[in-house]
Amino acid sequence: MQIGGVDALELAARYQTPLQVYDVGRIRQAIRAFKRVFEEEGVSYEVSYASKAFSCLAIYQVINEEGGHTDVVSGGELWTALKAGFPMSKVSFHGNNKSRSELELAVEHGVGVIIVDNFHEIDLLSQILEEKDAEAKVMLRVTPGISAHTNEYIQTGQVDSKFGFDMASGQADRALELVLANPRLQMAGVHAHIGSQIFDVRGFVGCAEKLCQLAEDWRDKYGYETEILNVGGGFGIHYTDQDHPLPAEEFVRAIVKAVKRQCQEKGLELPEIWIEPGRSIVGQAGWSLYTVGSRKDLPGYPSYVALDGGMGDNIRPALYQAEYSAVVADRPQAEAEEVVNLVGKYCESGDVLIKSCPLPKTEPGDVVALLSTGAYGYSMASNYNRNPRPAVVFAENGQAKLVIKRESYDDLLVLDLKY
Ligand code: LLP
Repeated sequence: MQIGGVDALELAARYQTPLQVYDVGRIRQAIRAFKRVFEEEGVSYEVSYASKAFSCLAIYQVINEEGGHTDVVSGGELWTALKAGFPMSKVSFHGNNKSRSELELAVEHGVGVIIVDNFHEIDLLSQILEEKDAEAKVMLRVTPGISAHTNEYIQTGQVDSKFGFDMASGQADRALELVLANPRLQMAGVHAHIGSQIFDVRGFVGCAEKLCQLAEDWRDKYGYETEILNVGGGFGIHYTDQDHPLPAEEFVRAIVKAVKRQCQEKGLELPEIWIEPGRSIVGQAGWSLYTVGSRKDLPGYPSYVALDGGMGDNIRPALYQAEYSAVVADRPQAEAEEVVNLVGKYCESGDVLIKSCPLPKTEPGDVVALLSTGAYGYSMASNYNRNPRPAVVFAENGQAKLVIKRESYDDLLVLDLKY
């Protein structure tokens, strides 16, 4: 089994497990596929990588090499992008409760767009701009009232979401009035994100239509022409054979066509279309390598096969009942011989990476690879049970490069002070 042209077993031996490995070529291909659709459709666009899916110096470098934008959702992500040399003009700053210091950081470093989420933020940002005698480009995040079919923790477009200005009750209009009235705020466009791991293209099309409707209302009411429609991310990917997503770029094609149709009908100038995919850029480019350790067999019950990682490096199964598939790295095509619960090493019964996982018989020392773990795995990792977080390797064209070191026991103590 190869990842980015490098043998998975060799990677496990060289860097130890648990190990997160990315096939960088796949990351590049995903971005290029999105760009190709926009270019075929002849629209202005930006592909803004939602870096909450996986953030580190190296990923911002790759995104930058591919000419992408990125979105950040915290001072920490912003700082990482900055230190990676990512052009700040290509960064969008998201968040429903950006702090004063985070907004100051964004203004000081000339972040491209601040995606304003609420009235408090308009006040805070206006104050900061006044104090610094600065200006900022903003987009307004709105909630289009679309409830996409996905786990409720990762839905964001429905009316009662914690994010953004409600469209129906006039909040979005009021926000626009405030932005237009403040010469320090340059209104760049409107943003919506309906949720994550979505398979049904209708949610995206509906969202695009609602944004066009808003653009028409704003033109008619305020004479304001929306220059950018940012339709967010959320394109579903393949985790197991139960998932049948469209190729991610086809979601984009449907969105672009819907926007074109709407603009023609409404006599609107075709805006730039921005997307913010996270999962669909890095998800299927990532593999988690673990080593098999202990096993528990109980007659009449599925056996437990325990790996050397678990909920500390991938909380998604425990948090969202997320499903993954796995192979044994030295025989990825081997027929399944048993169905086991693939569990981690954490002190919780809920630390199950894959329930009822069909696998060939494994022995302690075998390397198991979980597929499609590139999004929201490492980025949501913790030090629960004081386990060090895994190392991350980028593999491309047969070469492997360590991009995040494995945490050491001493690293775990870096912030601790004796009482
Ligand atoms: N844009 C905004 C405003 C978002 O809130 C998100 C994700 C994205 C873009 C990227 O969505 P994607 O293309 O990655 O689906 N931790 C959860 C997912 C949370 C998503 C949060 N927002 C998970 O592991 O499934």
